[in-house]
Amino acid sequence: MGQTTSTNRFIKIILIVFNKLFAIFIIGLLFYGWSQRDSNYITAESGIGYLLGIAGGSLMLVLLLYPLSKRSQLLTRLVPLRFWFGFHMFLGVVGPVMILFHANFQLGSLNSNIALFSMIIVAGSGLFGRYFYTHIHHGLYGNRISLQELKQNLASEHNNLFADESLDDGFRKRLNAIEQKVMEPYSGVFASFYHAMLLATSARRIKKRLTEQFRNTEDYARIKKEVARYVLALRKITAFKLYERLFSLWHLFHLPLFFMMLITAVVHIFAVHMY
Ligand code: HEM
Repeated sequence: MGQTTSTNRFIKIILIVFNKLFAIFIIGLLFYGWSQRDSNYITAESGIGYLLGIAGGSLMLVLLLYPLSKRSQLLTRLVPLRFWFGFHMFLGVVGPVMILFHANFQLGSLNSNIALFSMIIVAGSGLFGRYFYTHIHHGLYGNRISLQELKQNLASEHNNLFADESLDDGFRKRLNAIEQKVMEPYSGVFASFYHAMLLATSARRIKKRLTEQFRNTEDYARIKKEVARYVLALRKITAFKLYERLFSLWHLFHLPLFFMMLITAVVHIFAVHMY
């Protein structure tokens, strides 16, 4: 058990370091490509530029193995889903970077520009999706978080804090009112955002009141810690609800955007080979 935990932590650290180095490398590469665009080392019609177009386009087809593996057991029997997902995100960056070099970071004909911007929008949207995804999962490759487990965590922090006898009735009432608000069923991104802001303001007020009431007592450090844990549990619930809604909204747009990119890419390929 201990061995597995430390191995998992080691893998996690390796992934974080790899992600950071990869991001730095890609940003540097993009900057270099952009700064060299007037040198015209690369042309899209022939040689390496043409090959980059084929390779980048093909990689963007290969990354579709992830959505496919979500729907087919055949692929997940070969490779676990989280690896397909990692592969998807890797190719989702490498493919578009190749296309940017293929285009030499310059605009061209109308059909090329539409295809290029569609790709940038889809890949950019992927980065947002990744951000929302991480907030509703246990890390990028972990299981999906459930509201149930967050509620259980809150219940345990609630019991811990409310068992503290130093807490007066006024304070308890206030905390209960906030908790009730957090647990209210609501839908929609705006309602979720409003609740997250409301909690942030309430948390600040609680902190102020806590300091005023307990600062010079020996209970201060203990209660401060208990309240902080309780507020964190409340925050996790509001944040989860917000990111869950943002992610489902994102999903709604990502797929049509992807099809738009596919169609514009096909039109672009036909157009450049016909004229
Ligand atoms: C041009 C490049 C890309 C294309 C064509 C693409 C395409 C897709 C498609 C078709 C889906 C499946 C949607 C569904 O199952 O409903 C998807 C999901 C996803 N993509 Fe991409 N993507 C690209 C780049 C990226 C990048 C760069 C990232 C992040 C670094 C990313 C992150 C995600 C995430 C987080 C999901 C949702 C995963 C899930 O719901 O299980 N994508 N993408």
